[in-house]
Amino acid sequence: MPYATEENLTELALKQWEACHSPRLREIMQSLVKHVHGFVREVDLTQQEWLAAMDWLAKTGKLCSEKRHEFILFSDVLGVSMLVDAINHRLPSGATPSTVMGPFHIEGSPEMPMGANMAEGLGGETCFLVGTVRDLAGKPIAGAKLDIWQADADGMYESQLGSEEPLLRAIFETGTDGKYVIRTIAPPGYSIPMDGTVGDLLRKTDISHFRPAHIHFLIQAPGYETLITHLFKKDGKYIDCDVVFGVKDKLIAEFKKMPAGKTPTGEISETPFLVVNYDFALSPAK
Ligand SMILES: [Fe+2]
Repeated sequence: MPYATEENLTELALKQWEACHSPRLREIMQSLVKHVHGFVREVDLTQQEWLAAMDWLAKTGKLCSEKRHEFILFSDVLGVSMLVDAINHRLPSGATPSTVMGPFHIEGSPEMPMGANMAEGLGGETCFLVGTVRDLAGKPIAGAKLDIWQADADGMYESQLGSEEPLLRAIFETGTDGKYVIRTIAPPGYSIPMDGTVGDLLRKTDISHFRPAHIHFLIQAPGYETLITHLFKKDGKYIDCDVVFGVKDKLIAEFKKMPAGKTPTGEISETPFLVVNYDFALSPAK
């Protein structure tokens, strides 16, 4: 192998990665080398900037845990998460669109019966999520699991609050009618976490660090594509400037204000409440 020079380094690195066992890994690594080398050459990266980047990445890694994923947040604000989502979910028309997973999903949420209150004991505006999980022909899907997570009334997620117990997250399973009815509270728009490395970076810009009010859904059913999506509150603040590019027209839902009285779970509410009516359409598994 010839010794490296500024001119031949990219070529040498590409050659080195020929040695990948998997053709797909080879393709990915060689493309990465090509683009990263191109980036370094384009911006004429200084030694100091390179070191700052290495420190930033190391700090970002240290912030990651099973409850917080700073790298996903970084990918989100770069628009990379939504690009990967778009490439991987060219869904048939009629299917509910997907959007970013975000950094706050936690595995193993508690399973709750339909109609249960996943915001038990928490303050906030009572909100009912009501609808049916269907296939593309409109047929209800039985046994669909809805894994739901959201922020509290102050816009904070479980991992940010350091809660020992599961907070504002649960899994519900549809019966033969495909229907779901869930009691929760309305989340507000919120700032993405600004106490980490992504926040440090955004503070050096005029980029808005807010997301519009939304509830996260991960819906799985045997024989169907898994759907990772949100429902966004119609007319909510920041709906036109989501920092992670997650909003899609079809995912904007009305959080309809209802007067005191009978709720979708059949209880009587003494105070007004919100109802979100939304049917999810899953596409068949590929
Ligand atoms: Fe969120």
